[in-house]
Amino acid sequence: MSDQKRGMHGIWAGRWTFILAATGSAVGLGNLWKFPYITGENGGGAFVLVYLACILLAGIPVMLAEVLLGRKTRLSPINAMAKMTEETGAPKLFHGIGWMGAASGFFILSFYSVIAGWALLYVGKIASGAFVGINADGSGAAFGAMLADPVGLTIWHTVFMFLTGAVIARGVNKGLEAALKILMPVLFILMLILFGYSLTTPGFMQGFHFLFDFDFSKLSGESVVVALGHSFFTLSLGMGAIMAYGAYMPQEQSLGKTIMWVGLLDTLVALIAGMIIFAIVFSNGLEPSSGPGLMFVSLPIAFGSMPGGIFFGTVFFILVSIAAWSSAISIAEPAVAWAVEKGITRVKATAAICGFAWFLGLGTVLSFNEWAEYKLFGKTFFDTLDFLTANIMLPLGGLLIAIFVGWFVSSDAVKKEANIENETLFKVWRFILRFVSPAAVSIIFLHGLGVFN
Ligand code: TRP
Repeated sequence: MSDQKRGMHGIWAGRWTFILAATGSAVGLGNLWKFPYITGENGGGAFVLVYLACILLAGIPVMLAEVLLGRKTRLSPINAMAKMTEETGAPKLFHGIGWMGAASGFFILSFYSVIAGWALLYVGKIASGAFVGINADGSGAAFGAMLADPVGLTIWHTVFMFLTGAVIARGVNKGLEAALKILMPVLFILMLILFGYSLTTPGFMQGFHFLFDFDFSKLSGESVVVALGHSFFTLSLGMGAIMAYGAYMPQEQSLGKTIMWVGLLDTLVALIAGMIIFAIVFSNGLEPSSGPGLMFVSLPIAFGSMPGGIFFGTVFFILVSIAAWSSAISIAEPAVAWAVEKGITRVKATAAICGFAWFLGLGTVLSFNEWAEYKLFGKTFFDTLDFLTANIMLPLGGLLIAIFVGWFVSSDAVKKEANIENETLFKVWRFILRFVSPAAVSIIFLHGLGVFN
């Protein structure tokens, strides 16, 4: 393979490696922690349905477009967009996709690392037996005590950010591939064990109905925006993470099938996590709408009462941490790759980017205790960052990417790069990308802003 085709950052070893890396990026706190709690806050079934529709009509098509741009240029998202904008003669605005993505990446990484720190902290808590025989009140109190301690939160946020930087600094091949090959399958198996446990709980069917009975009266404009935003967040779209990974994808690999796998696995993990968590929520009289603590309060109750709970619980939270780790890496990769193209060493670039995100993360740490009362439009510092990135920046990035690939890159060029063997499938995808995704995202945006009310 020529250097031109290979790019300067390395290349995945093969088809399954890209799937692993992209799935590692996609499957993370978004699936295990965020999806269940926002589903709880937004009333369940109807929200899940809109979320699934967004995955299919916006997420998957945009993912294909992102990977395509990455692989075609073999550059970091910022430079990929610069090059493609110039080549196609598209308005300069599209160049901005790369920059906005880098900004979203900083914001997301900053709070993502804090939440991942909770998971690290819970590994030790569960292993110590602190949750044996615990009830809903006890588990809620333990979670509250954790949030009230900014020093503890900062320590684990620091540990997580350091771990993330350590892998990124080693580079794409050595750092990532080796770890993911073992970890992803183990995570999946453990989830199936937990799922088996949840089937034995009295609240399983109630949780199931909560997730899959569609009651549209519970759906507000904001819920729809949250569902759309989360479909981008969970698939790591709209900021260049998947574009960066696409830049390391072997040339001969067909994009369509590969991406279907990633979308399917990601959705499966989210739905299974939802079924597990809501089974426990309803079995123990917890509130589905109790917010970001949902996973951290509900799962320890299950581990505290099941046979072998200390073992399974410890392993589970280790895996949550690892899933978060493999996602965090992809959040930082676009900015690091850009700095490397500028001639900065990978290690220095990583230190600067992770250091800055770490500092910003202190705001999220404090928003759960010292700053909890400081609110902007009713949102804490953490809520604001989360809302701004997931519900505004990512969908906007996705919208621009869909329009760019749909309307400015020539059909021939797209066809050659996408390498989709099935002609009909290619046409369907291109149609969705040109018309359906931009329309869906725009309508939901306007709806969320209250334009139709
Ligand atoms: N998708 C990941 C999760 O669900 C988070 C993530 C990784 C992400 N890379 C991203 C979110 C890029 C937005 C953009 O946990």
